[in-house]
Amino acid sequence: MAKPISLEKILFSQGFGTRRYCSDLVYADLVKVNGLLAEDPEERIATEGLVLTVEDRDWEYHEKAYIAFNKPENYECSHKTTHHPSVYSLLPSPFVERGLQCVGRLDFDTTGLLLISDDGQFIHKMTTPKKNIGKVYEITTPEPITQSQIDHLLNGVVLDDDPKPCFAVACNQLTEYTLAMTIVEGRYHQVKRMMAAVGNHVAKLHRTEIGAYLMPTDLAQGEWRWLYPQDLQMLSKSVTA
Ligand code: URA
Repeated sequence: MAKPISLEKILFSQGFGTRRYCSDLVYADLVKVNGLLAEDPEERIATEGLVLTVEDRDWEYHEKAYIAFNKPENYECSHKTTHHPSVYSLLPSPFVERGLQCVGRLDFDTTGLLLISDDGQFIHKMTTPKKNIGKVYEITTPEPITQSQIDHLLNGVVLDDDPKPCFAVACNQLTEYTLAMTIVEGRYHQVKRMMAAVGNHVAKLHRTEIGAYLMPTDLAQGEWRWLYPQDLQMLSKSVTA
C-alpha cells in the first residue's frame, strides 16, 4: 500500500497548479476527497482508489497517467503547432499542466487511437521498434489496392531517407480501396510514404489498434479515457507474442 501523501502534494502531482494554488483551492472549499469536503491541505491522504472532486469535477488519482484519445482530423500532436490547433487543447488543463505527452505522433490529418502519458518508460516501450508492438492503420486509397502492392509492402519498402527497408508486418485488405496495415515502427509519415513507394496514395488514414488494444467503439472523436492495468497489458502485446 502506497504511503499517504498530503492533499496539497496530491493536487499538485495531478496538475491542478502550483503547491500554493492547490492549497488555496482547498481553503476556498473547492476540493472534495472521496466525496467529503476537504479542509486541510496538509492532511495526509491514502491514494489508493482516491477520487478527488475539484471545482465540481471528479478526478481519479493516477500516479502516472495513461490516456486513450480518439484524435479528430485537423489537430496537430504538438504543443507548438504551426497550422492547426493542438490535440492538447482538447484535453483537460491538468493533463497539460502535469506534462502529458503524445506517445508517438499522428499527422494533423490522421484520425484515431492516440495514447497520451507522462510515463517516460511507457512512452519508450510503446514507440521503440525493438518491442515489436504493432500499430494498425486503416488506409483509404484513391486507386484500387492490388495484390502486388500488398506483396511489396510485406516484402519491404525502401524510403528515400534510409536504405533500411520498412515492412508491413500484416496487411488485411478490407475493400478494393481500404487496407488495414500493421507496422511496428513510427518513421516520419511512414504509412503515407510506404503507400506512395508502392504506387498508390493515402486519401485517409485512421489508427484503429495498438498492440492488442482496439480503439473503444464508444469513444467518440475528441474524447479521452483512462487506461487501466488490463488495458496496458493489451497495449504491450507484441506482434510476435
Ligand atoms: N504514418 C503516416 O504517414 N502518418 C501518420 O499519421 C501515422 C503513420
